[in-house]
Amino acid sequence: MDTKNLRVNGKRLQQTLEEMAKIGATPGGGVQRLTLTDEDKRARDLFIKWLKELNLEVTVDEMGNIFGKRAGRNNDLAPVLSGSHIDSQPKGGRFDGILGVMGPLEVLRTLHENEIETERPVAIVDWTNEEGSRFAPAMVSSGVWAGALERDWAYDRTDINGLRFEDELIRIGYKGDVPAEKWPIHAYYEYHIEQGPILEREKKIIGAPKGILCLHWYDIYLEGEANQVGPTPMEGRHDALCAAAEMILRVNRLPKKMGGNMVATVGEIQNHPNSRNIIPDKVHFTVDIRSWDDDLALRAWDDLRKDFEELAAGRGCPIRIEETWRVEHSPFNEDLVQRVLDTSAELGYSNLRMVSGAGHDASYMNQIAPTAMIFVPSIDGRSHVEVEKTTWEDCEAGANVLLHCMLKSAQEGG
Ligand code: GLV
Ligand code: MN
Ligand code: MN
Repeated sequence: MDTKNLRVNGKRLQQTLEEMAKIGATPGGGVQRLTLTDEDKRARDLFIKWLKELNLEVTVDEMGNIFGKRAGRNNDLAPVLSGSHIDSQPKGGRFDGILGVMGPLEVLRTLHENEIETERPVAIVDWTNEEGSRFAPAMVSSGVWAGALERDWAYDRTDINGLRFEDELIRIGYKGDVPAEKWPIHAYYEYHIEQGPILEREKKIIGAPKGILCLHWYDIYLEGEANQVGPTPMEGRHDALCAAAEMILRVNRLPKKMGGNMVATVGEIQNHPNSRNIIPDKVHFTVDIRSWDDDLALRAWDDLRKDFEELAAGRGCPIRIEETWRVEHSPFNEDLVQRVLDTSAELGYSNLRMVSGAGHDASYMNQIAPTAMIFVPSIDGRSHVEVEKTTWEDCEAGANVLLHCMLKSAQEGG
């Protein structure tokens, strides 16, 4: 069959996304489907049911990554893979991650109903714990699968309540027995919402990132001295929250100070005992630094670390710093990036070469296989929030680009 005029079923993709959005739905119109929670399990169960309806070979590996593989004419050839993540942020949106799993599902449904044969096998994946907001770091299971992170280190990560990653994986029934180890991949495409304002501002439908910024995560622990706030004079206090407050502003000012292209954020903080009339004695907060320039991000951290140590000493609050996670900036395969742009143009969609500020499993996949991403616009540039939205038309457009990029790669011989 000539596949030139083949298109996905946009209505079916919409219904599928709407069905998924019911799992963990929040009153504000978003979803809360934190990794390895009951909501994650329910969404996984539904995803596997849909994979089985297509007679795919379904496997779950020891990190809980779910693969569905469709045979090709020559199954000795490396497959074409596409996927993203089912988990969400707390009070997250209905598109981040899930579009990149339901998008390739719609592609496979389209191939299935049109009885399209491909030369290579075509596969879909849901990566466990992309978000990293329950268990840091992010993208941990694609990281293990690609060989960049240690499985047992990942298993020992704990959430805010001290629950272990591996225990939660077992509890929801998704610790599979297949090793989480890479196999040869001919091409990896990840379909995702942009999560920023550029496509909307430039009035483009499809974005093709040339790569992803580096991501560096740090955890800071401060110790102060708790006391009754009323009788304790201001002089001589060891207030861990005040020390943190000074540090947080340094993080916010860091990009300007370094004079380069980077962003720096404190997004999470725990204050102990968190009572209005006790001087705080324990504070934990996180630091996230991103840039296209890995060296700049590292120099920024050196500078910040010195500031933190000085500020902590000034307040008499001992500091402990964990350098939790680093992933280098990730320039994608130029041929595949160009393929995304060309395919968009062939299908009549306006398009733009850009950069991804958000982290994606594609970062780790790019270390082991030719990789590219397909972005569609985020309304008002909002993401990781309940109001996150992309039009159904744009969701369909991105899925059509994915379909044809996957088809081109899947018809390439050995
Ligand atoms: C992943 O969601 C990120 O933090 O960019
Ligand atoms: Mn995502
Ligand atoms: Mn996200």
